[in-house]
Amino acid sequence: MKNTGTDEFPILKRNDFAPDFRWGCSTSSYQIEGAVHQDGRGESIWDRFCATPGHIRDGSSGAVACDHYHRWPEDLDIARSLGTNAYRFSIAWPRIFASGRGRVPNQKGLDFYSRLVDGMLERGLEPWVTLYHWDLPQALQDQGGWANRDTVDAFVEYTDVVSRHLGDRIKNWITHNEPWCTAFNGNFEGAHAPGLKSFKTALQVCHNVLVSHGLAIPVLRRNVPAVRVGAALSLHPLKPASDSAQDVAATVRHDGLRNRWFLDPLHGRGYPADIWAILGDNAPVVQAGDMQTIATPTDFLGVNYYFPEIVADAPGAGVMSTRVVEPGNVERTAFGWEVSPRGMITLLNRVARDYRPTEIYLTENGSTYHDVVTPDGNIEDLERRRYLQRHLLALREIVALGIPIKGYFAWSLLDNFEWAEGYLRRFGLTHVDFATQQRRLKLSGQWYGEFLRGDL
Ligand code: FCB
Repeated sequence: MKNTGTDEFPILKRNDFAPDFRWGCSTSSYQIEGAVHQDGRGESIWDRFCATPGHIRDGSSGAVACDHYHRWPEDLDIARSLGTNAYRFSIAWPRIFASGRGRVPNQKGLDFYSRLVDGMLERGLEPWVTLYHWDLPQALQDQGGWANRDTVDAFVEYTDVVSRHLGDRIKNWITHNEPWCTAFNGNFEGAHAPGLKSFKTALQVCHNVLVSHGLAIPVLRRNVPAVRVGAALSLHPLKPASDSAQDVAATVRHDGLRNRWFLDPLHGRGYPADIWAILGDNAPVVQAGDMQTIATPTDFLGVNYYFPEIVADAPGAGVMSTRVVEPGNVERTAFGWEVSPRGMITLLNRVARDYRPTEIYLTENGSTYHDVVTPDGNIEDLERRRYLQRHLLALREIVALGIPIKGYFAWSLLDNFEWAEGYLRRFGLTHVDFATQQRRLKLSGQWYGEFLRGDL
């Protein structure tokens, strides 16, 4: 389907957006790099987690992944060929400090990212770096991980080293990717590394991650001229399962932990009192000054948007007494996630209205489907292309509403290691044949390129 301007798909052009709008793709270190034993990289919590049978659906790991550690020039060439002007990636902390901290960083790890960043700049891609996209050094986990306050200090030291080495070339810094997932997927649901199942631990992790975000900001401001810093949150628009007072109240509670638990303290309002009151002795230990630290001003807010959630009251279901229910008759991706471009508008409208961030970037948005390689080697992912098109139309509406949205990063440049789902979920605009490491642009990627290059 070309962009012919039918009712179904009105004309959409890059020129509909500001010339300095950031267009990119997102990736993360553990999901694409592989080379886990190379050049002095230490063990991460994901290496350890994947080694336990049953943790990853297909029994795989990120040990090889997309072999991006060796193939990055080809991957950056693809990003350039699409016409993107920015690229979001993350740094593997265990490549910089194999055991999490120390007096001397691993020079080979720093050199790798230095080459990678130079490669981006050579190709006209503005680097957007994420310092923490979930691959904590295992050595720090052995001492309690993010639940241990010492990890906050280790993160600040790591931030200092990385920003002193790369701050001359990277202006845009994202401290953390999706603190909710770090805390709850990893420490309460046990579905992600480190695989713990404690609500109380998850809340302490959450708090320490937010404190580490705040403490990293002055370090970045000191080391990076004209730095721009923010965090990338996973946020969801929510709907009650019914009009009942119980479901409506449950939705407010769910919002309190899913969204407001991050947005409120980052914007200087402290933790939401309604949720704090429910937590009892699960509430985190907060030290004097922590809430001011978390509220340290940032330059932008990163939002990762995937799907809305429907919430019902569920007495007895954990501390929160809420339950996320399956949406009824709605369009979904292969992950079961509801496809809702409108939800993206609702969400950003709410964030802009309630928190007034000066700039918002969609730091992730994307979809997974069952891609089929045709006999002539094409991947005709019409559903992913449609998903992308419809979300970009929504993006244009978001701009028209006056919401300060300044960029969009598609998740993801490449099919990659999708955490607990292993290689069973493909999110890439580029197909990766994991047996041969061959890359092939899917139809969705071709369309993104046509849109960005102005070929439409
Ligand atoms: C987000 C993660 C990203 C990827 C997508 C599908 O929650 O940040 O790494 O797994 O989901």
